[in-house]
Amino acid sequence: MLTDQAAGAFRALTGTDPVGVWSGPGRINLIGEHTDYNDGFVLPFALPQAAFLAASPRTDGRWRLRSVDLDDTVELGLDELVPGTPGWHSYLAGVVWALREAGHEVVGADLVLTSDVPLGAGLSSSAAIECAALTALADLNGLDIAPMDRAKLARVAENAYVGAPTGLLDQAASTLCVADHALFLDCRTLETQQVPLAVTAAGLEILVIDTRTRHSHVDGEYAARRASCEEACRLLGVPALRDVTDLDDALARLPEQTGRRVRHVVTENQRVLDAMTALAAGDYPGLGRLMTASHASMRDDYEITEASVDLAVEVALAEGALGARMTGGGFGGCVLALVSADRVDAVSEAVIAAFAAAGLPQPVTFLGRPSAGARRVR
Ligand code: GLA
Repeated sequence: MLTDQAAGAFRALTGTDPVGVWSGPGRINLIGEHTDYNDGFVLPFALPQAAFLAASPRTDGRWRLRSVDLDDTVELGLDELVPGTPGWHSYLAGVVWALREAGHEVVGADLVLTSDVPLGAGLSSSAAIECAALTALADLNGLDIAPMDRAKLARVAENAYVGAPTGLLDQAASTLCVADHALFLDCRTLETQQVPLAVTAAGLEILVIDTRTRHSHVDGEYAARRASCEEACRLLGVPALRDVTDLDDALARLPEQTGRRVRHVVTENQRVLDAMTALAAGDYPGLGRLMTASHASMRDDYEITEASVDLAVEVALAEGALGARMTGGGFGGCVLALVSADRVDAVSEAVIAAFAAAGLPQPVTFLGRPSAGARRVR
């Protein structure tokens, strides 16, 4: 449906049909949080919710960028592709810029965007746009770019143009995920593995609870966590926290708070590897325990949760979830709970009731079904 909406809006803007429509999904990280920029491990899957981009090339070397959702159109020439330019269109312009910086020929284009990835919910709405754009522009310009290199270029757009100092998790997930699988990614070697995620066959569902709460200082807190990790590496004399092999020794050598940040990253990496083992064995209770332990580590050591996500996790567990954790960068956003299919409604209703009792906005719940990565859809 969003494919038609993007194509229809393109026709309204240009009077012609788009050459094609491309999509880039949002993602859920099953486990492995704040490990990507520490050369660690992550295990995301792509969501059915995605950014859709209808596109055609132009001959005048300009880019006309339209957001259907914001009802805004921006037109840019080459000299207006300036890193740090604020605004929604930076996610599209940043991809044009990153491709050109990498030496690719990219002609002007009309790009019309619509998305159903919730904004600011920790589901990677920005990478969804970037990866849809990367896929569209690669096709329109006949560029032969390997999938991992596409993800890396989309990350360059996010880091250098949009200005958010993120790791590779979101762009790798949006580009490389395949349906019914999670993506194991070693963020140091860039080794990947498609891991079957057959929770429904096991009578389970991944229930996503969007708490609709967002901390207002997310960007600053994210940068602060990243800076703590870099400081720890300097104090420990290691290239990345991936290289911490003796956690007790590291904790003895670090200030208390920095030590807790390191403990989160080191134990979270191990939890990703343990989750791989649990999935291979079909051990869903084990996977659930790892998810819950991940949440506790984010809450107590990395200190990136807040009251609403902690409440959603507590209520889901009390209602029988096998495990529950916040997903994404933190400070609000979404919780995922691994729930027996026949408990989905009970868990949703209990969380909604608990939020009402606590005077919090009503959360939105939906099922997280592992979906395909960025691709041409028309
Ligand atoms: C955000 C960033 C990712 C990753 C996660 C935390 O989503 O964009 O690179 O660091 O936070 O795991």
